[in-house]
Amino acid sequence: MRKKIIGASWKMHKNTIEEVEQFVKTVKGAPVFNKVESFLMPSFVFIPLLEEHLKQSPIGWGSQTMAFVDYGAYTGEVSVLALKEFNTGYIEIGHAERRAHFNETDDIVNKKVRLALGNGMIPVVCVGETKTEKDAGIGDESITVQVEAAFAGLSQKEVSKMIFAYEPVWAIGQKEGASASYVETQHQLIRRIVKAHHGESVANQVRIIYGGSVKKESAPALMQQANIDGLFIGRFGLDPHNFIDIALIVADGMED
Ligand code: PGA
Repeated sequence: MRKKIIGASWKMHKNTIEEVEQFVKTVKGAPVFNKVESFLMPSFVFIPLLEEHLKQSPIGWGSQTMAFVDYGAYTGEVSVLALKEFNTGYIEIGHAERRAHFNETDDIVNKKVRLALGNGMIPVVCVGETKTEKDAGIGDESITVQVEAAFAGLSQKEVSKMIFAYEPVWAIGQKEGASASYVETQHQLIRRIVKAHHGESVANQVRIIYGGSVKKESAPALMQQANIDGLFIGRFGLDPHNFIDIALIVADGMED
């Protein structure tokens, strides 16, 4: 059984200590996080604050990106080694906004995945087709290229630890995300790609979560799908009470 997971990236939405503390103080006592795996991804500078507040809680923390090499003359970048100092458990890699605005290529994604796994962290690799690709009927090809590039050169054991976040670019930042049945079909595709390269057992272990305008209202239908192992929340998880409510939906139906 794959463990269900809920994550939230705050992107660049929370920019004060007050907002960050208010959020973590509200969520950290919620019993649902003893059941469902969870992580929060703030801006880099707030990671030590999350560690301070969450280290005694089951809620994990992660970064929204990191450098593609581990040290050196890379002005402005943050290394996996620095993130490790703060017990960062998850690294988001290849988000559509990083691919679009910061030139994060499939090759860079692969480098970061290796660094994360090599340092005991879980890479959360975002993949998804753009609207143009979808309309041109090449969405599945685009996803295939991104998934294959992400795990190129990795062992089966390493791949089994990865989390893929399916995030169709056209569904991010919208009023509504993709439908549950559409997402399920795309998650099946991702699992088939993993199976083709790494076998059935690895494909059954890899967790695939969905992100893109997820909210309380859409979460139940998404979580009823067999291949949706969790949710990756953006705007609709910025309020701590909404985050808890969505976590309860993810946890619903899990065995105790
Ligand atoms: P959104 O962000 O829920 O605000 O669309 C999701 C994401 O980009 O992961």
